[in-house]
Amino acid sequence: MIERDATPPIQRLRRLRRLSGLRDLVREHEPNVRDLVYPIFVHHGTNLKREIASMPGQFQYSLDRLDEPISATVEAGIPAVLLFGIPEHKDSEGRSACDDEAIVQSAVRKIKNQTNELIVITDVCFCEYTNHGHCGALRSIGGSIEVDNDATLKLLAEQAASHARAGADVVAPSGMMDGMVAAIRRGLDEAKFHYIPILSYAAKFASAFYGPFRDAAGSAPAFGDRRGYQMDPAGGDEAMREVEIDVSEGADMIMVKPALAYLDVVRRVKDRFRVPVAVYNVSGEYAMIKAAAKNGWIDEDRIVLETLTCFKRAGADIIITYHALDAARLFR
Ligand code: PBG
Repeated sequence: MIERDATPPIQRLRRLRRLSGLRDLVREHEPNVRDLVYPIFVHHGTNLKREIASMPGQFQYSLDRLDEPISATVEAGIPAVLLFGIPEHKDSEGRSACDDEAIVQSAVRKIKNQTNELIVITDVCFCEYTNHGHCGALRSIGGSIEVDNDATLKLLAEQAASHARAGADVVAPSGMMDGMVAAIRRGLDEAKFHYIPILSYAAKFASAFYGPFRDAAGSAPAFGDRRGYQMDPAGGDEAMREVEIDVSEGADMIMVKPALAYLDVVRRVKDRFRVPVAVYNVSGEYAMIKAAAKNGWIDEDRIVLETLTCFKRAGADIIITYHALDAARLFR
């Protein structure tokens, strides 16, 4: 009788890793330029293209210089931009955000005159428009100054309708007010914009990764922080509740933000809700890669590609990233 070896044969997964053609054939996830959204900062004034110190390669543009990043985005084959406005005047309620002649509305009209090949998404929030830098109107509640949720809802609906009138294709409320999606949906429908989708910043965490953005948008809170409305980074179940509520209020797409440290949330959302999911690869994530690359400590191109691939693996359909223009080049 022949002795049989009891050790099981080696399971050889390396067989499919030997040749780059085989790796290409079996690759499960691949980011595509058609998944990307490029965020752009529109600043008041003229003839302005100012680099953001903590976000090398990203700029604030005045309206008259906006054609430059827009052309670059279209030429790269990127399908969408996300607009942020930095207005000249701020007040306690951020009123200027709702004006049809305001900075973002003017930018939307300008872009739509330049091209009809781009989806224009607008960030709907007040932190860039309030003189205190919070995401809505303030009020004293139980002795402390807080953002007045319900008063802000009305203003959010006004701002979203104004963006739609200017020609925005999608509105993206980012203020984490309770009921914001329902209020905006109602406001849009009443203004006959039933066809404009809402991309809700549904699971937005109170994150230190937004640091550079607040320099870029001039929106750092003058006092306190955003923990009274944005989510605690520890909240996973809470993120599910936020998304569930936003979907029930009529959100067409939902966002998880930031991206890298929150990919478990992306996966949970994707598995549980059958809606398109966007990740926002935020300013601090961008700044870390740029800083390390500048020091020669990492290979920027490879890290960017790896990062975007992992967003797809986690379940993201849409990737909002400051790397968009660079990444589009990498995919070619
Ligand atoms: C708020 C808003 C923020 C970002 C997008 N929308 C900042 C904040 O909540 O403080 C952050 C984006 C980034 O860090 O890239 N309107």
